[in-house]
Amino acid sequence: MADKLKETMPSNDVNGTPKPSSPNADTAEQITMLWEYSPAPESSEHISISDKYHHFIGGEWVHPEKGRYMTTINPATENKLAEFAEGTSEDVKRAVKVARKAYEKSWSNLSGKERGKYIFRLARMIQEKARELAIIESMDGGKPIRESRDVDVPLAAAHFFYYAGWADKLGYAFPGRKADPLGVCGQIIPWNFPLLMLAWKIAPALATGNTVVLKPAETTPLTALKFAEICMDAGLPDGVVNIVTGAGQTGAAIVNHPDVDKIAFTGSTEIGKIIQKSIAGTGKKFTLELGGKGPLIIFEDAPIDQAVEGIINAIFFNQGHVCCAGSRLLVQEGISEKLIKKLKDRMETLIIGDPLDKNTDIGAINSRSQYERIMKYLETGKNEGAEMYQTSGSLPENGYFCRPTLFTGVSQSNRIVQEEIFGPVLTIQTFRTPDEAIEKANNTPYGLASGIWTDKGSKIFKTGQKIRSGVMWANTYNKFDPTAPFGGYKESGLGREGGLHGLYPYVNLTPV
Ligand code: NAI
Ligand code: MG
Repeated sequence: MADKLKETMPSNDVNGTPKPSSPNADTAEQITMLWEYSPAPESSEHISISDKYHHFIGGEWVHPEKGRYMTTINPATENKLAEFAEGTSEDVKRAVKVARKAYEKSWSNLSGKERGKYIFRLARMIQEKARELAIIESMDGGKPIRESRDVDVPLAAAHFFYYAGWADKLGYAFPGRKADPLGVCGQIIPWNFPLLMLAWKIAPALATGNTVVLKPAETTPLTALKFAEICMDAGLPDGVVNIVTGAGQTGAAIVNHPDVDKIAFTGSTEIGKIIQKSIAGTGKKFTLELGGKGPLIIFEDAPIDQAVEGIINAIFFNQGHVCCAGSRLLVQEGISEKLIKKLKDRMETLIIGDPLDKNTDIGAINSRSQYERIMKYLETGKNEGAEMYQTSGSLPENGYFCRPTLFTGVSQSNRIVQEEIFGPVLTIQTFRTPDEAIEKANNTPYGLASGIWTDKGSKIFKTGQKIRSGVMWANTYNKFDPTAPFGGYKESGLGREGGLHGLYPYVNLTPV
């Protein structure tokens, strides 16, 4: 049987990437073979990516002042995809000036109904271009096409639809108060959900009458630049949305520009703290969405297979490049052995490889530097005395790939338990009583998201109320909706995005 399967199974996928197999044992090999799928790559032939992108300022492409460009690569192949402008403070000045003019001359004077029409149009155009956007997102950032196609792009469109609906209803959002826009918003986004983070930031800003200068991350600028094309095609008034590309210095120039009224940042806690310091005392409003170290609490009465699926989704989804990832498993002692065995079996079936293959579960790590950071944490974990387990499949030769990884034998003070790794790495601890679970869950500097698995609704509420995290999922994980606010406690950030709450950071409220 195994031989027959071997004959019919390709050992390499269409890109010449070796398919994962389990070299350990015959039986393991048979199991892997039975799980193996034929390659199903998404074609990228019809995708249009320019060789070189300039800034998008005032409704047109503008050459960077210093004439310098950076390169973005495909982290799954390490091939160059495009060049993009490296923004200086002069470029940022130009963008802010244009955004201010657009704010004063056009956007803030439009009725909510008219603004809503534009935002609806942006949402529909994202839907029309969904396939192209999903493929570019996967090529530029390394995430599996299944996720960019089924999660990132539909949710990005959903956020534009949702906030388009608020544009002419702000009076109902804030009864008895008048909501005025702030002016020009500076928005800085990370590389883990490039288009979705853009939507989270731009949609509520436009709905409330603000204009924006947005900087995408330097490893994933392409969908933001595609969004610039959508703004042009939608006939959005010039200067309402401006996209300035570059790295940290460009971001800092936006943060420090005196004519920016609000900063919205998603990224590392380290940079979040720098930003908070630099705008202290300036009167600028700000929201910060920072890191996390989400606990996953599995009680003995939990539906165990459902819990295993939840854990897989919580930490291996998007290679663990998720600020709200569940990266610390806390399992009640009586079921820990059984759960860990089932988890390892399920992990073995995960397909790692070409992000454009529709069967891929785990794509590429976003960049070489993030890959190296994760590898360092694996070393740290081993040096701290923890036991490391990784799945056995082979990895593609090129690109940055990391096997799903578990650490057992960890203690609460270990760095791998306390610090955000931002990769497919899960630490496992046990607990005996709910109080012990709560104490361990809360014992990190973060408080962004958490998950609980139990058969008892009352236990969800009782435990849930004592856990300091902005989001809590029960018997599921990583479910998002534009109507639900999102944000953290402690070092996970300040302010909320999404839902009605997501309008507050973009308005000044006065009694009517
Ligand atoms: P980062 O925080 O440096 O980058 C996020 C964004 O901020 C990028 O657009 C970057 O260009 C910009 N930026 C960098 N320095 C800036 C500055 N001084 N002023 C203004 N903007 C600045 O994150 P990085 O270095 O890419 O990743 C490092 C770690 O951060 C990851 O390993 C992960 O732990 C965490 N991270 C968390 C994210 C989240 O969603 N909470 C997203 C990305 C990273
Ligand atoms: Mg890239």
